[in-house]
Amino acid sequence: MHVLSVSSLKGGVGKTTVALGLASAAFARGLRTLVVDLDPQCDATTGLGAIGVFRETVADVLQSPKHNVVHRAIVASPWAQARSGNIDVMVGSRSVSVFDTPQPALREVWKLEEALSRVENEYDLVIIDTPPSLNGLTRTAWVCSDRVLLVTEPSIYSVVASQRAMSAIEEIRRRLNTRLDQAGLLVNRFQEQNREHLYRVAELQSLFGGKLFNERIPERATMQQVQGAARPIHSWPGDTAAALALQFDSVLNRIEGSFASETRRDRKNEKNEARNHRVMRGQNLDQVLALESADEKI
Ligand SMILES: Nc1ncnc2c1ncn2[C@@H]1O[C@H](COP(=O)(O)OP(=O)(O)OP(=O)(O)O)[C@@H](O)[C@H]1O
Ligand SMILES: [Mg+2]
Repeated sequence: MHVLSVSSLKGGVGKTTVALGLASAAFARGLRTLVVDLDPQCDATTGLGAIGVFRETVADVLQSPKHNVVHRAIVASPWAQARSGNIDVMVGSRSVSVFDTPQPALREVWKLEEALSRVENEYDLVIIDTPPSLNGLTRTAWVCSDRVLLVTEPSIYSVVASQRAMSAIEEIRRRLNTRLDQAGLLVNRFQEQNREHLYRVAELQSLFGGKLFNERIPERATMQQVQGAARPIHSWPGDTAAALALQFDSVLNRIEGSFASETRRDRKNEKNEARNHRVMRGQNLDQVLALESADEKI
């Protein structure tokens, strides 16, 4: 099971849109996929068509990441009604915002890691949609992730936010989760005819080089229609949707490629990697926390 966070420190740039596009790509290729909705706005839950009153949600999971709570907070997306496959969502909740404190305790940010260890063998890919900040929830997501995909619009403010996000990822990698790596930076809402956008993309290219995805997700009304209908982009009719779906396929290819190369490297350096990884999923977290002060703020 691999875990991917989709993040940006700036709001409204398309994190949820990209998380759902990648979930659609993963589902279309038959990966057993779980989307974790860690944003109090719950947009990913809505986009996956999981509408209703839920007995348990991600907020309960962060309170108590026990086996039964985790499994009750996960529901099947209606996306799976149209074609066979496994696409589930750990449903979001407004009350998850109580965990979004600026200085979370170490004990708190490991809760999702513990929760995901309960479903380790049930999914191939977990995609976490995060809120637009660097508070407790985003850190909770990054602590249990293998990769962070940063989403940006081609605008000056997003460029600055992406730089800050990259340093923050590095900090979490160094202090808490050596598995963590950047998946790269993906431009969304790109307007091919907009000179400012072209300028900003060139700027991003010179700042981030190979970390910038070659794919740019264009601004398309289709994207909003798909979300409004709570359908996967891969099942939406028309050439525009098909082109968007292909782009998400190729972004997912690159991310999966980075997992594959790591797996090879892991096998080669198994001993070193095991030593470097502070926490492997499924290991007893109490032991890990005993090595640190669980109340320490990060
Ligand atoms: N490529 C696109 N083309 C057209 N509309 C888009 C595109 N990407 C995102 N949008 C629209 O922009 C709005 C914001 O996108 P989205 O909710 O994905 O951003 P977000 O980063 O998750 O926001 P937040 O920070 O509030 O969680 C939504 O209405 C979405 O449909
Ligand atoms: Mg969002």
